[in-house]
Amino acid sequence: MNSGDAANPERREFLKKACTVGVGTALVLVPLGAGLNVLFDPLRRSSAGAKRVFVASLDSLPNDGIPRKFTILASRIDAWNKFPNAAIGAVYLRRTGEQKVEALNVVCPHAGCFVDYKSDIKSFFCPCHNSSFALDGAVSDPKSPSPRGMDTLDVQVVNGKEIWVAFQNFQTGHAVKIPVA
Ligand code: FES
Repeated sequence: MNSGDAANPERREFLKKACTVGVGTALVLVPLGAGLNVLFDPLRRSSAGAKRVFVASLDSLPNDGIPRKFTILASRIDAWNKFPNAAIGAVYLRRTGEQKVEALNVVCPHAGCFVDYKSDIKSFFCPCHNSSFALDGAVSDPKSPSPRGMDTLDVQVVNGKEIWVAFQNFQTGHAVKIPVA
């Protein structure tokens, strides 16, 4: 504080109030800006908790209707660090038409093991407790312990050539899909 401020209490009071208003405005605007960024970023606009990610080019998915497994890469943030392009899960993609693709989360809805694709029987099989699933993810063997079919995910073919998936994990052990927050 300079000697002018000490000699002029009104000026000191004014500066104090101006600082308070400035800090208060910043405290409101910064989170508001972050919220608007999330709201208007098209890549983040999807169902609650889902992360829209580019997975593969349509060319990389053959027309034979056989599922292919792809790792989902996205930025992952923990309390201290940001990991760009970290593996956050995996999906099976299957081409069902010229411009149509289906996506299934590889995680078994029974207890969370990874489901395999068995090319000899053209279906999915979970090695942990023997659940089996048809190509569209539906439970195919009534003896399967899985309470629901494999989890389908929203897919978009963008510009006729890019496969984007709204990636999401769901709670295991339930008959209905409950998103993991
Ligand atoms: S975890 Fe897949 S059948 Fe149990």
